[in-house]
Amino acid sequence: MIDIHSHILPELDDGAGNIKESVEMARKAVEQGITDIIATPHYYKGKYDNDKEKVERKTWQLNRVLDELDIPLKVWPGQEIRISDELLEDYDNNSVMALNGSQYMLLELPSNHVPRYTERLIYDLQMKRITPIIAHPERNLEIIRNPHLLEELIWKGAYSQLTAGSITGKFGWRTRRFSKYLIHSGLTHFIASDAHNVGNRGFQIREAYKLVEKNMGQAVVNAFHVNAENVLYGMKVKESFL
Ligand SMILES: [Fe+2]
Repeated sequence: MIDIHSHILPELDDGAGNIKESVEMARKAVEQGITDIIATPHYYKGKYDNDKEKVERKTWQLNRVLDELDIPLKVWPGQEIRISDELLEDYDNNSVMALNGSQYMLLELPSNHVPRYTERLIYDLQMKRITPIIAHPERNLEIIRNPHLLEELIWKGAYSQLTAGSITGKFGWRTRRFSKYLIHSGLTHFIASDAHNVGNRGFQIREAYKLVEKNMGQAVVNAFHVNAENVLYGMKVKESFL
């Protein structure tokens, strides 16, 4: 199993606080059946200044430790990039990167609204051959009130990623119900853990896939797995499989 969104790298953001916690998370990931995980520390200028070079260095260091401990998990570099009007500039000067150097970039919206420049940004990124993936739209207040906003972004070329814990009910029944709606409406392309630790923000990805399998069948689960694999290897993602 491939997980395309996690905060497993140590000392970078509100995820793993040190290498010991990263290793604990890695062990949990393996228990969940994850073989490959993309490390996506927050990139949020002034708060989390985790540029590409730093992320790549930390990824390399963690892989070396996991190798020494014989933990069968491969970590790949990425970022969860908070959208801003400087994002294109940051991409041009190599501070931000797409997931594992693919054509897919993980974007984080503010939690309470969708900035008006988002559509334009999605267009501009695509001009640079980058396909944005909107992280956890199910937790954005404006999208919850008006799901049509997400539909618009997807119509303009973005993909979207649901967080496993939203599907399992970790963020409450409303988020759970809305997540189900987003999957059933074909507005979801990926499921990922967004794991921050082994406690209250753990993985739950296996449990989430089980629920999706129960509600929608194995074919849909397989399509999500294939999509995640295609991101990791920089291949074309299936847009709709419903
Ligand atoms: Fe995240």
